[in-house]
Amino acid sequence: MTSTSFDVEKIRKDFPVFSRELPDGRPLVYLDSGNSSQKPNQVIETMREHLALHYSNVGRAMHVLGAESTDAYEGARDKIAGFVGAPSRDEVIFTKNASEALNLLAYSFGNPANTDPRFTLGPGDEIVISEMEHHSNIVPWQLLAQRTGATLKWFGVTDEGRLDYDPALITERTKIVSIAHQSNVLGTVNPVAEVAARAHEVGALIALDASQSVPHHPVDMTELGADFVAFTGHKMVGPSGIGVLWGRAELLESMPPFLGGGEMIEAVWMDHSTYAPIPHKFEAGTPPIVEAIGLGAAVDYLTEVGLDAIEAHERELTAYALEALREVPTLRVIGPETLEGRGATVSFTLEGIHPHDVGQILDDQFGVAVRVGHHCARPLHLRFGIPATTRASFYLYNTTGEIDALVRGLHHVQKVFA
Ligand code: ALA
Repeated sequence: MTSTSFDVEKIRKDFPVFSRELPDGRPLVYLDSGNSSQKPNQVIETMREHLALHYSNVGRAMHVLGAESTDAYEGARDKIAGFVGAPSRDEVIFTKNASEALNLLAYSFGNPANTDPRFTLGPGDEIVISEMEHHSNIVPWQLLAQRTGATLKWFGVTDEGRLDYDPALITERTKIVSIAHQSNVLGTVNPVAEVAARAHEVGALIALDASQSVPHHPVDMTELGADFVAFTGHKMVGPSGIGVLWGRAELLESMPPFLGGGEMIEAVWMDHSTYAPIPHKFEAGTPPIVEAIGLGAAVDYLTEVGLDAIEAHERELTAYALEALREVPTLRVIGPETLEGRGATVSFTLEGIHPHDVGQILDDQFGVAVRVGHHCARPLHLRFGIPATTRASFYLYNTTGEIDALVRGLHHVQKVFA
């Protein structure tokens, strides 16, 4: 069963990987898009064509290929800005991934090169994150706290897998709040506008890790209410090696560069330099040119399918999965068990069976690819008193038939360990 208004079989034809078989003729059931998504022909072909016919360095090559490559690279920035409702294309900074985007941001705080008081941080100041964060939204802030003597605080997580939001945790001493828009483990979508309003009330800045939301929901940078938003290309049918930091222009302008090198400067003397305007100030060296162009093609693809339609399809899959997984004995969903305020990522445990065994049997015998482990969110697993979970994450190309295959596989796992 699939939505009548959403032609998932047509979409699957765009993704060459679904035409292949796994060893022994098993069909591929790919339920690991939260980890990294598959790529459609439109992205693969755009990247191939650029490499084959238009490739050159960008911003510094004064010839036809240089102009074509620069146009395509900067054109990708325009597309991405439009896709996420950025008020200005210059607010879209290309990074390697979401981790680099968050590190870039964290590096700006407590940095003597940054005299903007909003970024000044030291002992007594506070950084606020949450217990459901991916390591990429924990470790950069731990490093910042260690560098500066600031205090790291965090929101807890409820038994149901919701943010245990207490506005009082954000105080006059808070300088930055950084939380996930959607959890990569629980699927929980956080009340980010409310948290942003509270952060701004006390004069703090707020960043969002939107790696798991931008690929799946219509997201508008201004509606989120955040100052900074990080996301990554490879989870949104684009290539790896390309991510984005969006930030409000006046903040990005006041921030010091992160990496120094070619093309991020205005002028260089032996003893000092001045810097290019945003976005180039933050894009030192030859950037991931073809990857950025591939991400531009990815947003074209997602736009053509429609984020509203993708969101509705994923909702249908999630409802189906939550219902079907209830039938598996001893299965415990870690995260919201209803559709409200959650996305299409479902993590679970099976009593007495290690997720690595679950993942291996699903893969070896059913061709079902899931992620097992702590999913780079170890503190969240510690919160639930478990070392690991099995995670199924759905995307536009998944079907309810694939969820049936997962459930069949899980029943088999139960039998093996009975
Ligand atoms: N952040 C990725 C995941 O959740 C790697 O699987």
